[in-house]
Parts: sequence; structure tokens; C-alpha cells
Amino acid sequence: MQPNFIRYLESKKTVDDRALNQHVWQTFWESLPGSSRQFPLEMLELGAGTGAMTQRIVDSGKISTLMYTAIDDQASNIAELENRATAWLENRPFINLFAKVDTAEQYVEAQINERFFDAILAHAFLDLVDLDTFLPRLLELLPPDGIGYFTINFDGDTIFQPSHPADEQILAAYHRSMTNPHSGRKLLHKLSSLDTEILAAGSSDWVVYPKQGVYLADEAYFLQHILSFFKDALSGQAEVDQAILDEWLQARQVQVDAGELIYIAHQLDIVFKKLDRE
Ligand SMILES: C[S@@+](CC[C@H](N)C(=O)[O-])C[C@H]1O[C@@H](n2cnc3c(N)ncnc32)[C@H](O)[C@@H]1O
Repeated sequence: MQPNFIRYLESKKTVDDRALNQHVWQTFWESLPGSSRQFPLEMLELGAGTGAMTQRIVDSGKISTLMYTAIDDQASNIAELENRATAWLENRPFINLFAKVDTAEQYVEAQINERFFDAILAHAFLDLVDLDTFLPRLLELLPPDGIGYFTINFDGDTIFQPSHPADEQILAAYHRSMTNPHSGRKLLHKLSSLDTEILAAGSSDWVVYPKQGVYLADEAYFLQHILSFFKDALSGQAEVDQAILDEWLQARQVQVDAGELIYIAHQLDIVFKKLDRE
């Protein structure tokens, strides 16, 4: 089966729903200022994909007046987001959605000194960017007391069960292939040194398991797609024995098909406030 990224993002929704840290989610909503038709809250989401978090915010019922900007660098994702948003926004006349194809880096640079956002969201995105350079620039878009809500930040640990003799070698090489394999802890540390106050933080691990041999919703596909990330990252890499990789991938695929594979990825959610240091 050819990997299908849009199907992967959709299959990820139920996994994320279980994983999102509820204390951090509640704190996010409690920390936001009020929103009115005259002064609607402005939110920015980076790496929005097909809008899973966008829909979660809109469907939460916690806000009825909002200007929401969603950025993703893939035109196909933004087209899908816009297509799906028609249904979410029905009967919500005071929620305005602007979806734009752009890289987060370019978009943020273009907005600095032009505008602020009351809240910035990034969901399963910040492990893909260079936090040392990007984070200080991103925080320029928050006014004093502006809120950041960064969720599903991968934090260095992947577990498959049952265990396989090649797990250690393959998981270590996979983590090394990532731009930022410790984005969760790095964000926590860096944010504290960048004039922000952490309001809440907690784990948001993905835990995917079968029930009586059957995965929930489309999570068998989610697992297959995760395996395709391993294949893409490690195929042709000199540090990984390719015969061992092939055997590992094959064994894991058989376990998905049999409803036996358990997959855990350690992640962190964080909500913070920008401090007024002027
Ligand atoms: C793991 S996906 C998460 C998508 C979505 N937030 C979700 O959880 O369903 C990461 C997303 O970031 C987008 N992306 C990757 N690098 C980007 C960049 N530099 N600027 C903007 N979007 C980017 C990808 O196209 C993809 O949609």
C-alpha cells in the first residue's frame, strides 16, 4: 500500500485525542483573554496539516468569536483543511478561518513588527524545526501575556511491544535521523529562558494498542504509516544493516496485520505565557 499522508493525519486524530494532556488543555482555555465580536481573539497555528487541531478548537464549544490563521507548507494539506472546514464553520458565523500555504519560518518572518497573535498553536510540528533559531522569532509574534500552546512535542522515546532484537539499533538510528528528537524537554527549557512563564506542562504520549486483536478507528493504518517513516528515514543509511531493517519492518508489519503490535511515543504538551519585560 502506498503511504497516504492525508489519511495518516486523519488516522492520527483518535490517537491524539487520547494523548492530549487534559490539564494542559484546560489551562490553555483558562489562560486566554475574553473574545468578543468587536475584539475577536486572534490565533495562529503552524504546521496545521489538514486541520485536526483547528477543528478541535472550533468544535470545543469554548469560543464562538475567533480569527484563526492556519499555516502549512503543503498545498494539498491546506486544500483538504479548507474543504473540511466548510462543515466545522457551518452555524459559526463569528469564527473566521484563514488558511495559507507557506513555511512557518517565512510566515513568521513576514509578520514580525506587523501584527501580534493572542495565541500561537503548534501541534505535532515543533520537532520538525530548528528551535534555536525559530523559537525566539516565533515569540516575537506574541504580545505581553500572549499564550503559546505547543502540543504533541516528541521527546526522545519510542517503544514497540513485543520487543525485537533489533529494536535498540533501529530506534536509536531513527531518533538520530530526526531534526529535533528531544523537542519536548528542549522547549520546556528554552521557553523558560525566553521571557515566558510555563503555565502547565505534561506528557501526551501516543499509546496505540489493539483491543481483542482489533485497532480502534483507522489506527492500524496509523501504525503502518509510522513504519513507513522508519523505512524512509533508514533505507540506504550506512549505520543500519539493511537486511536487519527489512526483517524488522516485515516483522512489525506482520504484527500490525495480526493486531499484536503496541506502539508508544513519549511526547510533551506545554502552555505558556509571554512575560512583559519592557
Ligand atoms: C506531523 S504533521 C502534523 C499536522 C497537524 N498539526 C496534525 O497534527 O494533524 C506536520 C505538518 O507540518 C507541515 N510542515 C512541515 N514543515 C513545515 C514548515 N517548515 N512550515 C510549515 N509547515 C510545515 C507538514 O506539511 C505537516 O502537515
